[in-house]
Amino acid sequence: MTTRDSGAAAEGESERRFRIMADTAPVMIWMCDPAGACDWFNRPWLEFTGRSMQQEVGDGWAEGVHPEDVADCMETFRSAVAARREFRMEYRLRRHDGAWRWVLDTGAPRSEPDGAFAGFIGSCVDITDRREAEEARLRAERERAEAETERARLAHQLHEADQRQKRMMREMIAGMTTGRLLVCDTPDDLPSLVADFGGAPVALTKTTLGRMRRRVREAGEAAELPKDRLQDLLTAAGEAAMNAVVHGGGGEGSVHQEHKVQVRVQDHGPGIDEAILHRATLERGFSTRAAGFGHGFWLMVRTADRVFLLTGPGGTTLLLEKEREASGLPLPPELTA
Ligand SMILES: Nc1ncnc2c1ncn2[C@@H]1O[C@H](COP(=O)(O)OP(=O)(O)OP(=O)(O)O)[C@@H](O)[C@H]1O
Ligand SMILES: [Mg+2]
Repeated sequence: MTTRDSGAAAEGESERRFRIMADTAPVMIWMCDPAGACDWFNRPWLEFTGRSMQQEVGDGWAEGVHPEDVADCMETFRSAVAARREFRMEYRLRRHDGAWRWVLDTGAPRSEPDGAFAGFIGSCVDITDRREAEEARLRAERERAEAETERARLAHQLHEADQRQKRMMREMIAGMTTGRLLVCDTPDDLPSLVADFGGAPVALTKTTLGRMRRRVREAGEAAELPKDRLQDLLTAAGEAAMNAVVHGGGGEGSVHQEHKVQVRVQDHGPGIDEAILHRATLERGFSTRAAGFGHGFWLMVRTADRVFLLTGPGGTTLLLEKEREASGLPLPPELTA
C-alpha cells in the first residue's frame, strides 16, 4: 500500500466512524458539498422527515420546508455557502406525520485536512415547544399589559369622577355659604398670610385656649375691629381652636394682622372625611362625637367673614379672616335659622 492509499483509507475510516456517531446523535445533521448540494443526512433527520436519503440529497430537503419559509431559508443557506460563513436560521419543516415543526438550523463551513473548503455541516433541533412556550409567555405578557392599561384607565376614570364630585361639593359648600366657607384642595389654595402678630404659634391644648383667645383679642384691637366684629372673631377662633384640640388631638394657632385679622389653626389629626364634609360644615347639630353639639362650624361660618378649610388624612387647617367692615353677601336665610 502506498502512503497515499493508506491516507485515503484512514480518511474513509474516520468518515465512517463519524457517520455512525452522527446517526446516534440526538440532533438532525446534514452535510453539503462546496457547491451547496446536500450529500448526506443522518438517521434522526431521515426519521424526522420520513424520507429517504435519495429524496433529501441535492435540494430535495427543501421540499419539506414550509412554503412560506422556503424562499428565506434558501436565500440564507445559499448566501452563507457562497460566503463560506456560518449561519443560523429558523424555519418550519414537515415531520413524517405531516405536522409542521419549527427547527433551528445551524450550519458551519468545514474544511479538508489540507484546509480546502469542503462544504458545510449543519445541525437542526426541533424548537416548536420552545417557540410555543415563548409565544404563550409573550401572549400572557401582552394580556397582562392590556389588563394593566385597562385597570389604569378605570382608576383614572374613577379618580376623575371623584375629583368632579369633590369639586361639586366644594362649589356647593361655597354657594350655600355665599362664599364664606371655602374648602381648599391644597395648601396653595389658602390665602397668603399678612404680618405675624404676637410671636410664635400657640401650641393648642385645653389649657392654652385662653392664651390663644387673648392673642386674637389683641390683634383685633390692633386692627381696630369694631367691638361686635371682634366678638364674632373670638367666637369663630374659639370654635376652630376647640375643634383642633377635641378632634385633631391638639395643634398650633397663629394670628396675623394688618387691615384685617387672620387666625390660622392647624392640627395633625385624622381630618374630616370627604363623605361627611358637607354635613360637618353646613349642618347645625351634626357631630361625630356623642358629646358634641355640632355647632362649631355653624358658628364659624356666621361669625368669620371667610373660613378657608383644608382637610385630609394629614390633618386640618382652618384660616379665619375678619375685616373692619362687613363685606360680601349675607348668608342665605335657610342657613341663618
Ligand atoms: N379639626 C378637626 N379634625 C377632624 N374632624 C373635625 C375637625 N373639626 C371638625 N371636625 C368634624 O366636624 C364635625 C362638626 O364639627 P363642629 O365643630 O361643627 O361640631 P362638634 O365639634 O362635633 O361639636 P361642637 O363644636 O358643637 O362642640 C365634628 O363632629 C367632627 O366630626
Ligand atoms: Mg366643634
